[in-house]
Amino acid sequence: MTDPAHPRPVLLITGAARRVGSVIARSLHAAGYDLALHYRNSQADMQALCKDLEAVRANSTCAIQAELADIERLPQIVETCVARYGRLDGLVNNASAFFPTEVGKTTVQQWNELFVSNAQAPFFLAQAAAPFLKSTQGSIVSIVDIYAERPLARHPVYSMAKAALAMMTLALARELGPDVRVNGVAPGAILWPESGKPYADQAELVARSALKRTGTPEDVASAVLFLLRDAKFTTGQILKVDGGRALVI
Ligand SMILES: NC(=O)c1ccc[n+]([C@@H]2O[C@H](COP(=O)([O-])OP(=O)(O)OC[C@H]3O[C@@H](n4cnc5c(N)ncnc54)[C@H](OP(=O)(O)O)[C@@H]3O)[C@@H](O)[C@H]2O)c1
Repeated sequence: MTDPAHPRPVLLITGAARRVGSVIARSLHAAGYDLALHYRNSQADMQALCKDLEAVRANSTCAIQAELADIERLPQIVETCVARYGRLDGLVNNASAFFPTEVGKTTVQQWNELFVSNAQAPFFLAQAAAPFLKSTQGSIVSIVDIYAERPLARHPVYSMAKAALAMMTLALARELGPDVRVNGVAPGAILWPESGKPYADQAELVARSALKRTGTPEDVASAVLFLLRDAKFTTGQILKVDGGRALVI
């Protein structure tokens, strides 16, 4: 099913064009992975990212555009990756919608948008990827959130969707062993959202963490690399990368 002739391990990353996803892509590429990089709207960012990575190592990237709500497209994303490289060694579920939902005014459309990217697509991508990951003894890492455990104020549906992703991580670790490991990374404050959350809140959050700083996308990327490549006896775990924020939440 897979092509062992392809010399390097291959990783599929969703929402990889910008922000945390693009840093995960750069870090994993530097660690020797060839990449299938999913994006939705951020085409110019994706082109720039691929150009940079191709300059480092030719024929090491493949960009795949898709709206993750389009459920028919999800197996095709995996198939495009396998058609390009002949193998798949890892899936990183990074794409995510994030916005507040006020109880009393939440719409079904908002519910769907938050659950599609944070829970539905990760599951159906994992399902499509599982046979290929089995044949490479591969692994899945989903980017969860510390708010999967304790809800973020004014964000009940986002918190619920991330809680579903956290449970998916545990459930699939059971279902896909012994061939496929399934883990998660739960960031705290890393990159401030571009809209919808007052910037003034950030200093207060940082002050309430043990390490007294925001994390970096590189902090998240190094945890992803650890779980994907090094943590060979670890499955069903969600690693907090939050500077100790959850200790004093
Ligand atoms: N930033 C933080 O401090 C923080 C904290 C805790 C957890 N996290 C988690 O870490 C991950 C990365 O965070 P981030 O802030 O870098 O994410 P982000 O910028 O909010 O979103 C990442 C990408 O997700 C894609 N996306 C969203 N909805 C989609 C859909 N329906 N279909 C296809 N693509 C969709 C977008 O791609 P396009 O731009 O191409 O449309 C977007 O660029 C997320 O899972 C997030 O929940 C982040």
